Amino acid sequence: MSPAHPVNTVNPENTVSPVSPVNPVNPVNAPTFAELYGRPAEGEWAAPGRVNLIGEHTDYNLGFVLPIALPQTVRAQAARRDDGLLRLWSAQGRELVELRLADLAPGAVPGWAGYPAGVVWALRDAGHEVGGADIRLDSDVPSGAGLSSSAALECAVAAAYDGLYGLGRSASELAQLAQRAENAFVGVPCGIMDQMASMCCRPGAALFLDTRDLSARQVPVDLAGAGLALLVLDTRVKHDLGDGAYAALRAGCEKAAGLLGLPALRSLEPAGLADALTRLPEELRPLVRHVVIENARVEAAVAHLDAGDLPALGPVLTAGHASLRDDFRVSCPETDLAVEAAVAAGAHGARMTGGGFGGSVIALVDTGRADHVAAEVTAAFRTAGYAEPRTLTATPAEGARRIR
Ligand code: GLA
Repeated sequence: MSPAHPVNTVNPENTVSPVSPVNPVNPVNAPTFAELYGRPAEGEWAAPGRVNLIGEHTDYNLGFVLPIALPQTVRAQAARRDDGLLRLWSAQGRELVELRLADLAPGAVPGWAGYPAGVVWALRDAGHEVGGADIRLDSDVPSGAGLSSSAALECAVAAAYDGLYGLGRSASELAQLAQRAENAFVGVPCGIMDQMASMCCRPGAALFLDTRDLSARQVPVDLAGAGLALLVLDTRVKHDLGDGAYAALRAGCEKAAGLLGLPALRSLEPAGLADALTRLPEELRPLVRHVVIENARVEAAVAHLDAGDLPALGPVLTAGHASLRDDFRVSCPETDLAVEAAVAAGAHGARMTGGGFGGSVIALVDTGRADHVAAEVTAAFRTAGYAEPRTLTATPAEGARRIR
């Protein structure tokens, strides 16, 4: 979901003196925390976006995922308030949103502010005695690109609140609160992968996460040491999980698990797949096939990483894409073309990453061929009449932390 469209929800009844949300003299320069709120911040926290190496649409089926954190982050500068108000400003939205804690309720805060407000609501709903805050947000995580800008926003605010109010919650507890904010307050039925990635990833490693019990292992990913780079090709087709298609897929998986008498599709092993498929209506079979084999692909990818054989990841990625395209059906012509063009240009493998319906493709390439692969994908997009993809290089970075 893209937190790109701010909605000013200033409550006309509040008694706080108005502040100027943007510097009217130079609108290009974003105002500082002190300029916005008339005092210094107590601290600053950062939380990253992510790319998932493999394990897509497995998290809400209680399966495996293998994300890395991106160097791109959402930063939250924050200071406590004791008057029951939450004030939010974002350098991307350029608008001050002021909310009364007492008014926070699921569905009550539209637009980007719903994500941070939802985290505060989730904390209070879970019994944490937290008050208000002034928060200034800034982000270099591309939004709507399938790189988890929403989770980064939630996790930056969760980490900030944990620090401001001395809650001492673990990274995984904060991730679960952030997911609750998105599920119950914003209304997007996402799984736990993005929030766990943003909170728990470590530099130089992928997070091998079992979403059934949230047990996790940091698996070293030394791309540079292997002479490899991970390209991220943002197709610029805006992906949005809030439009119902994601919820429908999730419901289909849950229905299939119910029909098979399983708590979740995770419980179905590849050996039992063929038999299980015969017991399902035709339209659910491809979903189940994807989830079961995708879980096995995560385990295969981890084995390759553990063996230090990084190029062997490539075919696993490409097979994962074919499954998302043909069975789970969440790719689109742009992501399919990016994968095809990257592989044709010499990538070891490529796949869409994240929820799908647009967003980004990752491609595992030899360092020396990265520019060539990016140029070939760009050329293919031009020929097809698509907007030029935006290219980043992903290095496994650090999860949420205090930076000041
Ligand atoms: C989105 C959701 C995640 C996960 C992926 C698909 O990113 O937020 O929970 O379901 O899609 O793997």
